[in-house]
Amino acid sequence: MAIEAVKHAGDRGAAPTALRKDAWWVQPALTVLGLGAFIVYSTWAAFQNAYYYADPYLSPFYSPCVAANCQHLTVQLVGSWWTWSPAFLILWAPGVFRLTCYYYRKAYYRSFWWAPPACAMPDARRGYDGETSFPLVFQNIHRYTFYLAVLFIVILTWDAILALRFPDGFGVGVGTLVLWVNVVLLALYTFSCHSCRHLCGGHVDIFSRAPFRYRIWHRLSMLNERHALFAWLSLTSVGLADLYVRLVAMGILRDVRLL
Ligand code: FES
Repeated sequence: MAIEAVKHAGDRGAAPTALRKDAWWVQPALTVLGLGAFIVYSTWAAFQNAYYYADPYLSPFYSPCVAANCQHLTVQLVGSWWTWSPAFLILWAPGVFRLTCYYYRKAYYRSFWWAPPACAMPDARRGYDGETSFPLVFQNIHRYTFYLAVLFIVILTWDAILALRFPDGFGVGVGTLVLWVNVVLLALYTFSCHSCRHLCGGHVDIFSRAPFRYRIWHRLSMLNERHALFAWLSLTSVGLADLYVRLVAMGILRDVRLL
């Protein structure tokens, strides 16, 4: 019934607000604000090509740092011919992972494209045929970018371990905690991914014959229920981690040593 109402309203070109009287626009508006702020900040930070390392902290936007012009080299894969920001060499991987995430798709289809803007609302434009044709059919690469995302979790965990190694030996600073919280939230986001859940047990037909996989699948399903929450928390933490390292590297903030 509701679908029919939406369909007919859409056919008539009715304004979306004609169908719902509640504040349906609040969530899309918040999504535009949150995602927009992150995209602007992360793009700006990637272009800076400076202040991304404050011994022993490396910003997650620049990790792994793989170019000869890095302030703190993780491993050199690219020679001195690369003169742009090293962030551009690596940010595409987590960027595509997030861009093709099932949760973010819903968020930006609704908030930016209005396709549709909310439940029981018509699409803003006609002719939407889902993800079956170019270019949205490429959203299917998400399952493959998951493997890259796992690699990034390993690398960022290594960074967090290195954040315990100060010039005068072992220690814990506020920055150490910032990097650890960030990697934990990123791991929760990554391992609550729908592709991860499917990979671990989604295609098992008879769980009683695969009890180990069932246990993993069951736990991942619990994480998966909170995937949207982890998506926002990890987006915030990765931005704040870069900001913290940046402010310390610029001398605006003094890192407090706890241990
Ligand atoms: S579904 Fe969101 S990261 Fe895979």
